[in-house]
Amino acid sequence: MFDFSIPLSTERKRTKSSEDSVWPHERDAEIVPPVLNSKFSPLHYPLMSETSAVVVRNLTKAFKKVQVLEGVSFSIPCGSMLALLGPNGAGKTTTVRILSTLLRPDGGEVLINGFDVQKQSDEVRAVIGLTGQYAAIDEYLTGRENLEMMGRLYHLSKEDSKRRATELLEQFDLTEASTRAAKTYSGGMRRRLDLAASLVAAPPILFLDEPTTGLDPRSRLAMWEVIKQLKKDGATILLTTQYLEEADKLADSIAVIDHGKVIAEGTADELKARVGKERLELVLEREGDLEKAQKTVREGSSIDKEERRISIPIEGVSEVKDVLDRLQQASISIESLSLHKPTLDDVFLKLTGRQAEAKQSETVPA
Ligand SMILES: Nc1ncnc2c1ncn2[C@@H]1O[C@H](COP(=O)(O)OP(=O)(O)OP(=O)(O)O)[C@@H](O)[C@H]1O
Ligand SMILES: [Mg+2]
Repeated sequence: MFDFSIPLSTERKRTKSSEDSVWPHERDAEIVPPVLNSKFSPLHYPLMSETSAVVVRNLTKAFKKVQVLEGVSFSIPCGSMLALLGPNGAGKTTTVRILSTLLRPDGGEVLINGFDVQKQSDEVRAVIGLTGQYAAIDEYLTGRENLEMMGRLYHLSKEDSKRRATELLEQFDLTEASTRAAKTYSGGMRRRLDLAASLVAAPPILFLDEPTTGLDPRSRLAMWEVIKQLKKDGATILLTTQYLEEADKLADSIAVIDHGKVIAEGTADELKARVGKERLELVLEREGDLEKAQKTVREGSSIDKEERRISIPIEGVSEVKDVLDRLQQASISIESLSLHKPTLDDVFLKLTGRQAEAKQSETVPA
């Protein structure tokens, strides 16, 4: 896994003179800007909201006549991670774009670190990092050049840009590939480089828009570790995803969004409890055993005679053996079994009565 220590600690005092400042918004900002010390660690920036780093109230947005956000509200306490979970077209990217000052909302209020995204956009930009759904790196530059360029955009000196790039390349396991053009990177490497680029200024609040869509399982796991570490280092994170499992593994709380509305909010456990438990699905050898099997196992099981299938809610994998033992004792033969975990589809089916639109995961070009 990657060796990490992305500095995200905060301090309220300026630690360098303004001539030394590396921050682009310094002159206009009323607040004390972030200043990198000589080793980039820690980055000093005050997160002013004691409780919530991100507050979104009743956000609305329409494109032409199409209402895309219909009163989205949620908040993210400092240092915690919220997953905005929803299918294609739910309004996730639109929300992220508004929160990162790239798009004006029609109505509602967004406060980032206590600053209004519309009236104090410079102050907002000073504390956020954005990794968009589509990688924003320059294909023709090398990994190192991409990061150094980002450093220069943040007004780091040439030397500091180099040092920060080296640090991030190391942390994201990209040192070996650092001299190759980014267009030669795999999808997972691109995502890591993209995330690294958004961390050049070590912002305390991160917006990650579908950071793992299109990644293979191994790269997804690696990216999860990266994100977990960012949170450990103190970042406040808004993550959008289409995968319940991802939200479950990473986030402290989840807001389910559909057609521009938050339709459910809570911890992963709370949501799963609404969706239903894990289910053990068994196909029996004899249809005639179905009802006997239903009496043998716990309450809440359902049967499908045509498929010779019984679906049994279970508390966890440990219960599987118990169920199988009981069926064996009752001389019920099983043809096949599968374990079914609640998915985003289940959440949607339960919450909206319809299936979430299936997504073909887009492939990040290699
Ligand atoms: N600039 C735009 N002009 C017109 N319609 C737009 C624009 N941007 C987004 N939309 C529409 O707004 C809706 C929400 O889009 P958005 O990109 O926020 O969804 P999403 O939840 O991020 O979906 P995905 O999972 O596919 O990324 C979609 O119907 C989309 O077509
Ligand atoms: Mg999107």
